[in-house]
Amino acid sequence: MIQTMEQLRETVCCCEKCGLAATRHNVVFGVGNPRAKVMFIGEGPGENEDLQGEPFVGRGGQLLDKLLTAVDLDRNKNIYIANMVKCRPPKNRDPLPEEMELCKPYLRSQVALIRPKIIVCLGRVSAIQLIKQDFKVTREHGQWFEKNGTWMMGTFHPAALLRNPGQKPEGLNDFIALREKILQVCPEVYGQQ
Ligand code: URA
Repeated sequence: MIQTMEQLRETVCCCEKCGLAATRHNVVFGVGNPRAKVMFIGEGPGENEDLQGEPFVGRGGQLLDKLLTAVDLDRNKNIYIANMVKCRPPKNRDPLPEEMELCKPYLRSQVALIRPKIIVCLGRVSAIQLIKQDFKVTREHGQWFEKNGTWMMGTFHPAALLRNPGQKPEGLNDFIALREKILQVCPEVYGQQ
């Protein structure tokens, strides 16, 4: 039984359950406040994340930080960020179903420890896994789904917004909708330091 986030981090950091362990530089466990009420879940580490051991630190990460700042969220204060898989898939391919299956218990433990009120899926891969199998980002981004008392929303992956900058206003609107939801269900987020 995993008891604390630090114990979980120690377990995950020496994981060799799938082939991604062989090519990784660092396990990208997650970042943020373990008492956060809002959790963001991406797909898997890219090159920069693999080298630095932290999620969303490349160009996409900088854009994510800007969107977070726009609605008074901060990865070091009032949110937690994790990925579906903790190790970089080579050449930034999508994680394979079996890699996600093997890694999912770690994410489940993170969610169980954090007990977020709101989960935001960054991009299609996590939205399909966590919200619904046929989730379509272009059609369903920004919509709220309630699952066992947790509010869930899927939005554009920051890398997709970099590729399609015309979608940035829609992406920003999703973050504004997120702020509204936070104020409704867990306003204490805005007092967290
Ligand atoms: N893309 C993701 O989905 N996660 C990261 O941590 C970085 C890029």
